[in-house]
Amino acid sequence: MEAEAETLEFSGKIIPLCRSDFSLNPMPDTPSFFIRSIPVYGDLILSPMDGYSDLPFRALCRELGSAMSYTEFINAIDILGGHPHVHEKYSFLPAERPMVFQIFDNEPERLLETARRLRRFNPDIIDINMGCSAKTVSGRGAGAGLLKTPLKIARIFRRLTRELDIPITGKIRLGWDEASKNYRLVARIIEEEGGALVAVHGRTKAQSYSGEADWEAIAEVRRTVRIPVIGNGDVKTVADIARMKAHTCCDAVMIGRGAIGNPWIFTRLDRLQVPPEQVQQTLLRHLELSLAFYGPQRGLVLFRKHASRYLSPYPLTPEMRSLLLTAEQPEEFLLLVEQVFSRVI
Ligand SMILES: Cc1cc2nc3c(=O)[nH]c(=O)nc-3n(C[C@H](O)[C@H](O)[C@H](O)COP(=O)(O)O)c2cc1C
Repeated sequence: MEAEAETLEFSGKIIPLCRSDFSLNPMPDTPSFFIRSIPVYGDLILSPMDGYSDLPFRALCRELGSAMSYTEFINAIDILGGHPHVHEKYSFLPAERPMVFQIFDNEPERLLETARRLRRFNPDIIDINMGCSAKTVSGRGAGAGLLKTPLKIARIFRRLTRELDIPITGKIRLGWDEASKNYRLVARIIEEEGGALVAVHGRTKAQSYSGEADWEAIAEVRRTVRIPVIGNGDVKTVADIARMKAHTCCDAVMIGRGAIGNPWIFTRLDRLQVPPEQVQQTLLRHLELSLAFYGPQRGLVLFRKHASRYLSPYPLTPEMRSLLLTAEQPEEFLLLVEQVFSRVI
C-alpha cells in the first residue's frame, strides 16, 4: 500500500508524516479484522499509555506498522472543565485512522457528555478505560474501579452506544482482585450493551504490573464474545506476538511497555536486531515530531524519557547520560546524539 503523503503542521513548521527514507512496514492488503464497519489493516497496536502514546510516538509507531491509534487516557473532568493542555491529548493526524479517543471517569453521564464533546473532533471510535490501576483513578471508581460496578459499566455502554453514531469500545483488566475476577461477565456486558470491541490486559487491578499477564483469561474472553478481542500484557518480543496469538486467538495484539525504546516491534524486529544507524534515524525522527508538536523546549523535555530508552543498550558514560538527559536546547542535544552514535556505529 502506498504511504499517504501527509504532513504535520505545528509551530509554523511542516513535517512530512511519511518519509521515503523511512522503513515503512507494508500494511496487509486485506483487513485483519473489523470494528463494526471500520477495517483494521494489521494485527499489532500500540497501547494507550499516559505520558507515552502522544501524537509524536503514535505517528512514529504507525509509520513502523502499528495498525490503529489510541490516545492516552483523557480525563472527562479535563474535557468538561477545559484543562489548558487537554487539546494535545486528542490531536491526531489523518494517517492515524482508525483513531480511538480513550476516556475515563466514574460517572456515566459525565462520560456521555465528554464523548459527545469529543465526537466533534471526529475520532473513529471512543474507548472507555476500565483498566487504570492508579489509586487516584481506580480509587474514585473510574478506570479499573469500574470493574467493581458491572451495572454501571452496562449503563455507560447502553447510554453511549445509543447516543453516539461511532463505535464504543472498552479496555479492561481481569477484575479488581484475585477473588473478584469478572472479566467474562464484563466482556459479555460490553457486547450485550452494544460495545464494538474489548481489549483485555491479563491482570487484575490488585496486581498492578506484578506477576505475569494471564493469557488464558484472554483466550476465555475470545471464546465468550463475538466482537473483536485485543490481547494485551507482557508482549515484549516478536516471538511473544506469535505466542499470544496462538494462545488466545485474539484478533490483534496490543503492545505497551515493549514498544517504549523499541517501536520496531511493529515491524516485527526485536530491539537487538535493529542496527545503530536505524536507531539513530528513528530517534531523530521521533525527536523531530516531538519538537514540531510541543515546540522546542517542551518537545525536548518530553522526549528525554524516550531518548533514555532508545540509548539504553549502549554503554554511555554516566556523564554523557546526564548531559543528554539535561540538555535544554535541541541543538545541544543533537550534538550529543551525534557523539554517541559516532562511537557505536
Ligand atoms: C506508563 C504507562 C501508562 C499507561 N497509561 C494507560 C492509559 O492511559 N490507558 C490505558 O488503557 N492503559 C494504560 N496503560 C496500560 C497499558 O495500556 C497496558 O495495558 C499495560 O502496560 C500492559 O501491556 P504491556 O505489558 O504491553 O505494557 C499504561 C501503562 C503504562 C506502563
